[in-house]
Amino acid sequence: MRQSLIMGNWKMNGSRAEGQTLAKALAEGLGEVSQEVAVCVPFVYLTDIREVLASSPIALGAQNVADQASGAYTGEVSATMLADCGCKYALVGHSERRSYYGDSNATVASRFVQAQKQGIVPVLCVGETLDEREQDKTFEVVDEQLDAVIDAAGIDAFANAVIAYEPVWAIGTGKTASDEQAQEVHKYIRERIAARSQAIADKVQILYGGSVKPDNAKGLFAMADIDGGLVGGASLDANGFLQICHSV
Ligand code: 13P
Repeated sequence: MRQSLIMGNWKMNGSRAEGQTLAKALAEGLGEVSQEVAVCVPFVYLTDIREVLASSPIALGAQNVADQASGAYTGEVSATMLADCGCKYALVGHSERRSYYGDSNATVASRFVQAQKQGIVPVLCVGETLDEREQDKTFEVVDEQLDAVIDAAGIDAFANAVIAYEPVWAIGTGKTASDEQAQEVHKYIRERIAARSQAIADKVQILYGGSVKPDNAKGLFAMADIDGGLVGGASLDANGFLQICHSV
């Protein structure tokens, strides 16, 4: 039985004070839950938010991680630094990184490997654009994104990783994939992993992301291969995010 995981991705939003207020509301409002909850916050606020969450079970994550270990890489933040700031998770290959900042499958694979070297659990984001879906390329795109990482890190690396399926056309658009559309791709991803290792496929958490809201979370999380969510916009509202956390 896989534990559910609900992750908020704050993206580039809010001030330090707003982040602290939000984290405090989550810590105080979460209550007893069996699922895991985490928030991926802007780098510069990691230590502030860590302090607020110190006595709560909510885990801390970063939104990216450098593809190199250390050195002359101006502007990058290494996995060692993230571990030092108390991060458990780091997103790698978020579609906004891939499309606006040119992250290739190879770079994403390097980020994944660097995160794991420091004991950080990478959350590998995959997903197709609307164009790709309309051209029936969803599975092909997801294959390429997954294979690049499996080839670089090995299938066993997925024992300590999370996968997030985020169809690009559903991110921030209010258009959620239907429960069945999401389940279809999640099942496909799990089968793809199972072709290399059934044990890892049974264990790996696959999250859905893309306009998850309090009113659609329950249906999505009820699907067999959806193990939780990666929540953007709706994670900026404490009540809404807590409701999503309790929809498992
Ligand atoms: P939204 O929930 O705002 O669609 O964002 C999804 C996402 O990109 C989470 O990483």
